[in-house]
Amino acid sequence: MSFLEVKHLFRSFGGLQAVFDVSFTVKKGSIKAIIGPNGAGKTTLFNLISGVLKVDSGEILFNNVHLENLPPYKIAEMGISRTFQNVKLFNNMTVRENVMIGRHTRSKAGFFTGMFNLPWSWKEEEEILNKSEEILDLFHLEEVAHLYPDNLPFGKQRILEFARAMTMEPEIIILDEPAAGLNIHETEEMAELITKIRDWGVTVLIIEHDMSLIMDISDEILVLSYGKKIAEGTPEDIQKNDEVIKIYLGDDDA
Ligand SMILES: Nc1ncnc2c1ncn2[C@@H]1O[C@H](COP(=O)(O)OP(=O)(O)OP(=O)(O)O)[C@@H](O)[C@H]1O
Ligand SMILES: [Mg+2]
Repeated sequence: MSFLEVKHLFRSFGGLQAVFDVSFTVKKGSIKAIIGPNGAGKTTLFNLISGVLKVDSGEILFNNVHLENLPPYKIAEMGISRTFQNVKLFNNMTVRENVMIGRHTRSKAGFFTGMFNLPWSWKEEEEILNKSEEILDLFHLEEVAHLYPDNLPFGKQRILEFARAMTMEPEIIILDEPAAGLNIHETEEMAELITKIRDWGVTVLIIEHDMSLIMDISDEILVLSYGKKIAEGTPEDIQKNDEVIKIYLGDDDA
C-alpha cells in the first residue's frame, strides 16, 4: 500500500487534455516535485488532488482512501493542505489572524462560535492561539504578526501562506510555485522551511520552475509535458534524461 497514489488520471477542458493518463506514487515523508513547461498540467494535477477540480477518470488514493471528487474541505480535513500559484491571503486581517484562521478551518467549534466566544469553545480558542504562536515562531513571522499582509515583502507573503496551510497540521502539503517572484535570499529561506517541515515528517508536493531549488530539495521529480508524464526519478536521473533535456532546451533559452 502506498501513502499517496495517483492512477491513470485524466482531465480535459473542452478538447484540451490538461492531464492525460498520469500515474505516480508519493512516499510518506518525502519531497516530490512536479516540473514541466507552462501549460503542462501541473496546477491542474494539484487541483485534482486537492478537490478543486473534478477528475474525468482515474484514481487518487490517500492511505488507500479514494479522494477523487471529494469536496476540497473534506480533503483538507483528511490532512492535505495547499497553497496557490497566486498568493491568496486575507488583506483585512493581520498576519496573526491569517494564521489563526488556517487553524479554525479544522477546529470543531467552527470559526463563528469562536468569534462570539461561546464558553464551550474557550479551551479550543486558547489551543488555536498557542498553535498559531508556535507556527508564527517557526516561520519567523512573529515580528510582523501585527502587520497586514499587503505591507509585507512578497517573499514574506508567500511564507505566510505556507504557514497558514501548516496550521492545519497536514500530513501532506501541496505548494504551487512557492518561490515564484522571490529573490535569492527569500528563495533560500523558502527552501530551508520546506526541508524543515519534510524533516518533521510532513510529505511535500511542490511545483516549481526554479530548477536549482528543485534539484536541491527534491527526493523525487515527476516531469509533465502536454498533460503527460514523460519522466520520473531522482534529481540525478532527471538531469540525465534525454527527453527532459530536449524539452527544457527546446522551450527555454535557459
Ligand atoms: N479552468 C480551466 N479551463 C480551461 N482550460 C484550463 C483551465 N485550467 C487550465 N487550463 C488549461 O489546461 C492546461 C494546463 O494548465 P495548468 O494550469 O495545469 O498548467 P501548468 O503546468 O500549471 O502551467 P504553469 O507553469 O504556466 O502554471 C493549459 O493549457 C491551460 O490553459
Ligand atoms: Mg501552474
